[in-house]
Amino acid sequence: MPNTHTFDNEFQHRLGVLGLGEGRSILSAAQGSSRWCVTCVCDLSEALCVARQREFDLECERTTDYTKMLSRDDVDVIGVFTPDDIHVEHIMMALEAGKHVVCTKPVVDNLSRGTELLAAQQRSGCQVFVGHSYRFFQTFLREREDFEKGVHGDLISCEACYNGDKRKGSAGARGKKGEVNWLYSGLGHAVDLVYWYLGAIDTVSGFSKLSNAGRKLGSEFADCFQFVLQSEQGVLGQASGIYGAPRAHPKAAPVAGCTLRGDFATTTATNPTFDYFTMIDGHAPTCETYVDDGGFYFRWGGSGYHAGEFQNYLEHFAQCLETGDRHSPNLSDGLYVIAILEAMERSLETGLPCRVDTILEERNLLSLKEVIAK
Ligand SMILES: NC(=O)c1ccc[n+]([C@@H]2O[C@H](COP(=O)([O-])OP(=O)(O)OC[C@H]3O[C@@H](n4cnc5c(N)ncnc54)[C@H](O)[C@@H]3O)[C@@H](O)[C@H]2O)c1
Repeated sequence: MPNTHTFDNEFQHRLGVLGLGEGRSILSAAQGSSRWCVTCVCDLSEALCVARQREFDLECERTTDYTKMLSRDDVDVIGVFTPDDIHVEHIMMALEAGKHVVCTKPVVDNLSRGTELLAAQQRSGCQVFVGHSYRFFQTFLREREDFEKGVHGDLISCEACYNGDKRKGSAGARGKKGEVNWLYSGLGHAVDLVYWYLGAIDTVSGFSKLSNAGRKLGSEFADCFQFVLQSEQGVLGQASGIYGAPRAHPKAAPVAGCTLRGDFATTTATNPTFDYFTMIDGHAPTCETYVDDGGFYFRWGGSGYHAGEFQNYLEHFAQCLETGDRHSPNLSDGLYVIAILEAMERSLETGLPCRVDTILEERNLLSLKEVIAK
């Protein structure tokens, strides 16, 4: 998988972007790639459309009406960057209009329309890429490369986290009103990383807490989580996410991290600190650092937007559209992650471990297990 790049390519995928908050990152990503061109932007706010067009010097069409963007012949792919709870509607509409989809994570915030979504995708013949962006950060790509080379031997455990200081809510209006469910919107990042390495999950169990800051925002959802998981192969997993406290000191713990422990090696990828640590039998400990890539990944300073990760995933998706290879994560992977999160919710409600198959069975989605990435 590539990291920093601009390719000369005969294909150009014409992108319409829906939702221009974090959608800013996909505009920058598309602009940085010769495989993509933005042909339309859409947001309920006309002012935001105009502002983004100015920011990126885009001479494309703009509209506040999603159906208008869908009716355009010069849009092949829709980038869905609206709030989590309306992704499902927006993906369905795109598929019905015969467009491929890049949907930011989480692909949906519950599985009530999971079978409907899969059927719509199959009917359309179009592809849906799910933007679990941390997979596409430099250190996480590096760790994956070692994993695929077999450096770890058999995996024993994968421990992933995504923490964030959301005490004042997130950037969007819903976050400020405490309406974001951080299990799906936040912990989902860590759960996707565990799924990426462990594949099908047998059982999950965990605890949650609503922080004082979350309560002050009026949130009805917990915003702090610690979970353990076990794969169907018996590998152990851990996923944690705390959204009601300050971030840890960057030298003490990453915002997002993934530690893999296997027979012969333990490795840790960090974000946004760009460090990749290895302890490999027969080798000295290493710390590779990729700070020089900071400008590619974080284009507006800080670490609040994910343009570099989005550019890496756009390149991957474009390449798969061109070759017909399986892209990852696809709709099945995205939905399987939601099944794990629903099992976590069930475990919180009952105080008992929950099998992921129980959720898949209830949602009539057991067939997902045949098509998820192994
Ligand atoms: N690492 C990542 O991949 C990452 C990071 C941040 C946010 N996200 C995801 O991106 C999505 C958006 O988050 P955000 O922080 O930008 O939220 P936001 O509320 O700031 O932006 C959403 C935008 O969608 C627009 N919108 C809503 N309904 C619309 C409609 N029917 N038609 C046109 N426009 C519509 C809103 O006007 C708003 O500008 C969420 O799903 C979030 O989880 C992903």
